Amino acid sequence: MKKFNISRHFAQIAPVYRHVRTLDPEPILAIRDILVQHKKLKKPIKIADIGAGTGRYTELLIKILKPENINAALLIDVSFEMLSMAQSYLAGRKAYFINSPAENLPLKSQTIEVLTAFNAIHHFDFKKFIREAQRVLKPGGFLFIYTRTQEQNRRSIWGKFFPNFSDKEYRLFWKDDLIKRLKRLKKFELVSYTEFEYPRISTMEELLKKVFAKHYSTFYLYDDEEYKQAVKLFKQNLLKYYDPEQITYTDENTLIALKKN
Ligand SMILES: C[S@@+](CC[C@H](N)C(=O)[O-])C[C@H]1O[C@@H](n2cnc3c(N)ncnc32)[C@H](O)[C@@H]1O
Repeated sequence: MKKFNISRHFAQIAPVYRHVRTLDPEPILAIRDILVQHKKLKKPIKIADIGAGTGRYTELLIKILKPENINAALLIDVSFEMLSMAQSYLAGRKAYFINSPAENLPLKSQTIEVLTAFNAIHHFDFKKFIREAQRVLKPGGFLFIYTRTQEQNRRSIWGKFFPNFSDKEYRLFWKDDLIKRLKRLKKFELVSYTEFEYPRISTMEELLKKVFAKHYSTFYLYDDEEYKQAVKLFKQNLLKYYDPEQITYTDENTLIALKKN
């Protein structure tokens, strides 16, 4: 299997990332509801979004939680290029940009009320990240993880029709394994595990635009020739079932809420 060069991938995709990935407000609304339910928005809070990328979810989080409820929003990412894009969208909005790995956060212990990681946990060393999350969160603070499980990935349009997509994507967790790992965490209580389904409609042209931009890092796990062949077969597979002007499918994601004891 091709070795994945994460910095190269995110440096290349940074300028178009926001155009080729879908942004769903549902997990942010769910985060707001959990924080309200646990009375966490009574005073302005400090949030840190880890693997924040271009900051699209951080931006939505600030908007939905309301800027007056946020003391500071720290956007933390290993990719300088992704963070530079985030800066162009969020500068001056209580946002601070930190170029750092998730596994070694340059934050003081017990200083953060809410930590988030959207579409990023599969890039992290899970154990090291959790250790850091435990350290930087205040007692009673929340860690929200938004991800796709292996099962959800396999049911996606890419998993179904793009050759070898699911088998190449070895980094995502299987649902049972993920829940087992979360329940084993001594310093966190698993508050909720919520699965979301998003019905989508697209054209062949739009889907191919995403493929050519390599909107999922999974595409970097293909060799060049294998990738070319896979794109060809993906097109053929879709044409067997869909009108190229109207391709319907469902995306699925999972939101995990963990509360630090
Ligand atoms: C798929 S993108 C998601 C970006 C953003 N959270 C979103 O949903 O739009 C994953 C992000 O995680 C970052 N990343 C990958 N490994 C990381 C690590 N070990 N520490 C911090 N950030 C990391 C990448 O640079 C990239 O910006």
